[in-house]
Amino acid sequence: MHSDLIVKTAAFVKESLENAESGHDWWHTERVWKNARLLLRSEDANHLVVELAALLHDIADSKFHNGDEEIGPKTARKFLQSTGVEEDVVFHVEQIIRHMSYKSGLGEVRYSSREMEIVQDADRLDAIGAIGIARAFTYGGYKNRTLYDPSIEPKPLQSKEEYKNSTAPTINHFYEKLLLLKDKMNTSAARRIAAGRHEFMERYLEEFFGEWQGEK
Ligand code: ADP
Ligand code: NI
Repeated sequence: MHSDLIVKTAAFVKESLENAESGHDWWHTERVWKNARLLLRSEDANHLVVELAALLHDIADSKFHNGDEEIGPKTARKFLQSTGVEEDVVFHVEQIIRHMSYKSGLGEVRYSSREMEIVQDADRLDAIGAIGIARAFTYGGYKNRTLYDPSIEPKPLQSKEEYKNSTAPTINHFYEKLLLLKDKMNTSAARRIAAGRHEFMERYLEEFFGEWQGEK
């Protein structure tokens, strides 16, 4: 039964992510999974593939494995094979995980399916809005970035390498990535949700700069 497989996968992911940092912990995965299910209500796609890929998309982060970008897809394949699910499902989920991240989107590798687009939207939704703001400052704190520095201009168009190596203040990340995400959504359902979250970030930034200037 597919619902058993999903429950089993959720348990595996939850256990694997027990010690993960908060940007990519089980709760991030659970939010992405919920977002994906919400998008599935208005999208015609293979539900099993979407749910499994949402659950497994951050199973192993290359950042913590010496930049090995194959660790995630391979871990997902190994787990799915152990469950006995059909090879075409294993292959599709593996491909989604391999090609989904924003970073590989900036690079030259290309793969696409409706299922991948839905999971990608679900993941991107978790990078914007109130949660997105919280995640950005958590990441910035982890990397010891300043909150904001008016002398460092944001650079919205960066190569994959520049993006990876950037040491800019966290506020710049809004202009370099977070505010661009609403126009990168693949599905109309995600575009609608993103619009509200985007507006919230704009209001947040307005408040931030007002307070920064001592105007509030
Ligand atoms: P993804 O999981 O989508 O590939 P990342 O690993 O790049 O994304 O980022 C995880 C979280 O940390 C996201 O919410 C993202 O916006 C945030 N983040 C990534 N890079 C930065 C940065 N330079 N400054 C602030 N937040 C960042
Ligand atoms: Ni993610």
